[in-house]
Amino acid sequence: MLIFAHRGASGYAPENTLKAMALALELEAEAVELDVHNVEGELVVFHDRRLEGKSNGKGLIHRHTLAELEKLSVRGEPIPTLWQVLELLNARCIVNIELKGIHTGEPMKALYHRAVAELGYSPEQLLISSFNHPELADFKADVPEARIAPLLGSLPLDGAAIAGQMQAWSLHLDVSFISQTIVDQAHAMGVKVYVYTVDDGDDIRALAAMGVDGVFANYPDLARKALGEP
Ligand code: G3P
Ligand code: CA
Repeated sequence: MLIFAHRGASGYAPENTLKAMALALELEAEAVELDVHNVEGELVVFHDRRLEGKSNGKGLIHRHTLAELEKLSVRGEPIPTLWQVLELLNARCIVNIELKGIHTGEPMKALYHRAVAELGYSPEQLLISSFNHPELADFKADVPEARIAPLLGSLPLDGAAIAGQMQAWSLHLDVSFISQTIVDQAHAMGVKVYVYTVDDGDDIRALAAMGVDGVFANYPDLARKALGEP
């Protein structure tokens, strides 16, 4: 089972920061997940649309300049750009980039090619996901070699078919809506199932027993231990 350090090792360090990503590597996470927004054409790693709550800033993140964001922090840690995170991880793990904000697909296309050409990432190491399925489909149309993953926050009747039609690598599902049926339907389409966000050992073992292919965990080391791995 593939374990993604969710927003980096966010159980131990401020989420979506370089510190959380470095810690994920230290904990030998095979994969990390992060969220991006478009700020002045640059992809910035941050979860919420608004700055308050997760940082010491205020307002919608995409209405700010990069220079303004540089002055802010997430519990003492800077808000990184996606490029800074990709440089730090240096193709040492799988990176799931969630296109969170609006207009993130276009800058992601350019960054995807740069990450492969300049940092040595392989297409197998970059997984682009989003709740915004049109943005994801557009990304796949322009970067056909890319692995993409639709996110579902609920369970429509045709959840697996959506992923199959999009030629998705994986379908990302909320743990609240997981069922054996959707796992089997996705697998029948040749699509993997990754489930968010799971930190309870019993839950992780139950998902493994259902054939779920991966989970997003805030404590990736504990998730691994729950599966009996060192
Ligand atoms: O990508 C899985 C998960 O991160 C989606 O939910 O709100 O944590 O971005 P959220
Ligand atoms: Ca996310």
